[in-house]
Amino acid sequence: MSNKNVLVTGGAGYIGSHACKALRDAGFTPVTFDNCSTGWAQAVKFGPFARGDLMDRARLDEVFAEQQPIAVMHFAALSQVGESMKEPGRYWRENVTGALNLVEAAVAANCLDFVFSSTCATYGDQDNVVLDEGSQQLPINAYGASKLAIEGILNDFEAAHGLRKVIFRYFNVAGADPEGEIGEQHVPETHLVPLMLDAIDGKRDALTIFGTDYDTPDGTCIRDYVHVCDLVDAHVLGLNWLKSGKGSQVFNLGTGEGFSVREVVSHSHAVTNRKVPYVDGDRRAGDCTKLVSGSSKAITELGWKPTRSDLETMVRDAWRWHQNTKAHYSE
Ligand code: UFG
Repeated sequence: MSNKNVLVTGGAGYIGSHACKALRDAGFTPVTFDNCSTGWAQAVKFGPFARGDLMDRARLDEVFAEQQPIAVMHFAALSQVGESMKEPGRYWRENVTGALNLVEAAVAANCLDFVFSSTCATYGDQDNVVLDEGSQQLPINAYGASKLAIEGILNDFEAAHGLRKVIFRYFNVAGADPEGEIGEQHVPETHLVPLMLDAIDGKRDALTIFGTDYDTPDGTCIRDYVHVCDLVDAHVLGLNWLKSGKGSQVFNLGTGEGFSVREVVSHSHAVTNRKVPYVDGDRRAGDCTKLVSGSSKAITELGWKPTRSDLETMVRDAWRWHQNTKAHYSE
């Protein structure tokens, strides 16, 4: 295979930029397609940058023609649960229409191997249910619903046009490149770990814990945190899976271990040796009580070997990036 180009939508974002590095390290050429609405041009370091917007089908066709990618990895999306409850129209329009344009352009260019970044938010709030790939998908927020709709699009395009896809349903992604080249930087920031590190550093007010009356041992929400580097390693395995003709699959990406918000706070205190200023607050609309993967299918079938997804390593890597302000993005 001489052409090793992989089109990475959202390659300027947090997870996409880590995927580009992993692809580069695995011998592929990641071609970032991004409009930089939430991503950063400075995070595009590991391959060419084709600036563009998923709502612009003509630009997509142009990039497929120029780059002739052998596969697509689709990360670009609006991805904030809370925001999706306030602005559902944007989530339906941008996530679903954007993905539809991309899939149609890929099929038109005969680029049929597709790795898709889906989410455990498609499962919704299912108490006492083991969340594996066969679980019912009953999203309770517009973000999860938009990702579920895209899974449906991929299924239909597989049936009609022979698209092959690996769908990854992520649990909560945290951490940063251990070499400190890239990391998590959102404006505005809404995710627990970076907000907490900012609060530790005095860069923002105390962290507000969203809800302390959930039906969990300490009353706060439980999530399954996975290191961004482990997560993107799975994507490279998913790409190779498709390229070796193994066909379409769905994999959860989580560790199977859940931590409450209070537990994340206390681990962060231990790792940084700094006090985490926090206040207890109201629930955030759209939040599920508990999201923990009940599946090890990615490990047993895909051969995924997560090595950094313990909470201590995730917080340590995120803290290193957080403190390395010289590497932070400004445009
Ligand atoms: N949290 C707080 N205070 C904050 C921010 C978050 O208490 O200031 C809590 C949330 O309520 C939640 C946990 O920390 O219980 C994690 O929240 P994040 O915002 O970091 O992550 P989410 O769980 O909302 O969402 C993330 C990804 C989604 C993915 C989802 C699945 O952003 O893409 O995980 O749970 F779908």
